[in-house]
Amino acid sequence: MKHLHSLRLTWEIAVRMIADALMVNGAVLSAFIAHFSYKVMVEHVTANTEVFFWIWRSYVRCYIGSAWLLTLICLVVFTLSGFYTYGRAYIGHYKRWIVIQSTSLSYLIFCFLLYAFNGAVTPGGSAWVLAWLLSVCALVAARAWSLLWRNLVLAERQLVKLPEKGKVRNVLIIGGAGYIGSALLPKLLEKDYRVRLLDLLLYGTEPIRNLLGHPHLEVMHADFRQVDRVVEAMSDMDAVIHLGAIVGDSACALNKELTIEVNLMATRMIAEVAKGSAVGRFLFASTCSVYGGSKQILDEYSQLNPVSLYARSKIASERVLMSMATASFAPTCLRFSTIYGLSGRTRFDLVINLLTAKGVVDGVITVFNGNQWRPFLHVEDAALGVLKSLEAPLNLVRDQIFNVGSNDQNYTIREAGEIIHGLLPTAKLVSGISGADQRNYRVDFSKIHRTLGFVPQWTIEQGVQQVINIIRSGAVKDYRDAKYSNAKFLTEEGSARMRCVNGWADDLIDQSSSGYRVLVEATGEAV
Ligand SMILES: NC(=O)c1ccc[n+]([C@@H]2O[C@H](COP(=O)([O-])OP(=O)(O)OC[C@H]3O[C@@H](n4cnc5c(N)ncnc54)[C@H](O)[C@@H]3O)[C@@H](O)[C@H]2O)c1
Repeated sequence: MKHLHSLRLTWEIAVRMIADALMVNGAVLSAFIAHFSYKVMVEHVTANTEVFFWIWRSYVRCYIGSAWLLTLICLVVFTLSGFYTYGRAYIGHYKRWIVIQSTSLSYLIFCFLLYAFNGAVTPGGSAWVLAWLLSVCALVAARAWSLLWRNLVLAERQLVKLPEKGKVRNVLIIGGAGYIGSALLPKLLEKDYRVRLLDLLLYGTEPIRNLLGHPHLEVMHADFRQVDRVVEAMSDMDAVIHLGAIVGDSACALNKELTIEVNLMATRMIAEVAKGSAVGRFLFASTCSVYGGSKQILDEYSQLNPVSLYARSKIASERVLMSMATASFAPTCLRFSTIYGLSGRTRFDLVINLLTAKGVVDGVITVFNGNQWRPFLHVEDAALGVLKSLEAPLNLVRDQIFNVGSNDQNYTIREAGEIIHGLLPTAKLVSGISGADQRNYRVDFSKIHRTLGFVPQWTIEQGVQQVINIIRSGAVKDYRDAKYSNAKFLTEEGSARMRCVNGWADDLIDQSSSGYRVLVEATGEAV
């Protein structure tokens, strides 16, 4: 599959390079023909047929001798300028300028070499200026046309409405009994949605204790890898919010097969079931971890640089979902920042909550490395982001990826430690070195702000204060308890709870072999 994907990518790049090479060659040929025609018709340089053909042959020789070099230079410069890998500068309105600059640079290098080796720029400077102009026009026009074409197709798609069942009222929330889900559920119920929760309840019913028995909440205790339960859960729904996953770098690293099964394969199966059941609104929880390690400010179009299996499983899921988009299936991927603050299932394996708890209980706030950037978001605001996406006009969110967070809450880990220290001045702020976490990303959240009017309500200081208060109140007995940490929980208890979903098949095989014996005993022969 991986092999096929990279083969397809290589093929696409090769096609683009061939198209660019053809355009450059077409431009040179047209320029030569125009130059030759001018000489013949305006300057009358051809006294007789012999001279005519002699000059024509010199143009042909010149083309054969130099077009390959120009093509080569263009392809190298275009590649280095990010034409075929979508470097950050080669995006949106910058693209036109990069195309003009790169083409001009290629022609300059080429003419310089031509002059250096031939002592002249044959068949004439004006022919090459014209070729340069035509190349720029062709390359820019081709890109503008492809953009226009994509927009036309998209616009046409958006005209086709999803089969509406009226306003979205019935919502299936998968993995909604966790950290973000337990903050989202009350918001959905307050807004009168009818909610069906499908969750393995790995962390028990404690996170949603206050909501159990709510007339608009139906709880299905099941594993979302079981297709029959997913089909059952999907019936009569208008939208799906898929939050369920093995969450976090270290939790995912414990068992690669399980992570791929839960995070990727199940996501595709759930989306297929949603599509087949005409449930077109599909919100998927992704993560800003997909950006991995980068020094730039990253938006939804930036190159991804995952440094963990967790991030790769989310990128792969995003790709699968986007490739499934149709007129009646509209996925939206929400790349959440690192979450902090309290919910029904507060996690203490996330940096702000963990450092705060350490500060209160152990009197030490240990900041590892410190210079890595990370975007942060309160768990209540994460829930608000999901709600905004659910309630937005479909045209704004269909087939879209949004970073969910705030431009004001990008901090280095050291700055985050200093904020916590500011609220816990008696704790010691110390620095450590660790190579465990290589993530470093600073994220731009303008798109969700602009498109959905999303404005986070909480600050890190408020979230830290919340955590300080709850630890001091004694409501959290031990922040190191496995139930507060995904990796610890999976290591200590999870493998049994997350046992292979095909366990039913093993059971049936076992039962079948004993059934076979009974049959043999009853009939006296093997059937
Ligand atoms: N918390 C963060 O900082 C953060 C940041 C970025 C993205 N996200 C994404 O948001 C989503 C929710 O994160 P969270 O912090 O609430 O996670 P969580 O671990 O607290 O909750 C996950 C939920 O999924 C359920 N679940 C897991 N496997 C299941 C299975 N096979 N069948 C049924 N239920 C299953 C668990 O019981 C749990 O209720 C995840 O997809 C995560 O990748 C979270």
